[in-house]
Amino acid sequence: MTALVELRNIVKTFGGVHAVENVSIDLAAGEVLGLLGHNGAGKSTLVKILSGVFPADSGDILIKGQSVTIRSTRDAKALGIETIYQTLALSENLDCVANLFLGREIAGWHGFMNDEAMEKKADATLNRLRLRLPLLSKLVSSLSGGQRQAVAIARAIQFNARVLIMDEPTAALGPEETQNVATLIAELSNQGIGIILISHDIHDIFGLASRLVVMKNGRLVGTVNTGDVTKDEVLAMIIAGKVPEARQA
Ligand SMILES: Nc1ncnc2c1ncn2[C@@H]1O[C@H](COP(=O)(O)OP(=O)(O)OP(=O)(O)O)[C@@H](O)[C@H]1O
Ligand SMILES: [Mg+2]
Repeated sequence: MTALVELRNIVKTFGGVHAVENVSIDLAAGEVLGLLGHNGAGKSTLVKILSGVFPADSGDILIKGQSVTIRSTRDAKALGIETIYQTLALSENLDCVANLFLGREIAGWHGFMNDEAMEKKADATLNRLRLRLPLLSKLVSSLSGGQRQAVAIARAIQFNARVLIMDEPTAALGPEETQNVATLIAELSNQGIGIILISHDIHDIFGLASRLVVMKNGRLVGTVNTGDVTKDEVLAMIIAGKVPEARQA
């Protein structure tokens, strides 16, 4: 089967720092892939190349087997690649609907914003996610961490995302909110969206991802199926930089 996304032999250096050294990963439609590694392993750099923040020095990006050029975040979005950063980048002083459309407002008659159309579309997105946010008109500043994460996810998928990249999606959340985000991720996966979850903590994503990619010092340590490994084995991959025998996926 052709992968939804493939990163092949990606190299990225910053000055003398080898942030990503010849790393290849792939992602299937509907797959939840965990990207793990210590601070500075190169996780964010790798996905920023996919999301168009900066170009790779070398390597290829393929979408459904077709080589693509991603020069900007706009290019990435046009290809259906959406990213949610740790900071979520929500506007505190705007309500949820406004946040869902930030920078992509629906213009109506004479260029005025079409509030009704945006509310309708926001409602449809929340239904699609089976999200109960009784608060479309609430300011983001009044939402809980989990609700903010939900708004960020809704915004990302609202414009036909095929790939969703999430940097530490549950790191700042309590157990119940983490569960809600997990449910949301499962729903997106059901709908065929490929999801990359980034974390430096195996506990955050072990229960969410079906496959795990581990990086260390810019290099790919290995890829394993979550069902084939224990958390301790993955921890050993993160720390020692070696794949336990017979676990290579
Ligand atoms: N814009 C940049 N300019 C210079 N160096 C950078 C830049 N971005 C990342 N680096 C360096 O590249 C290496 C990989 O960093 P990266 O942010 O990709 O790691 P990470 O795995 O995401 O770590 P963390 O878990 O801390 O987020 C680090 O040595 C970092 O200092
Ligand atoms: Mg990072």
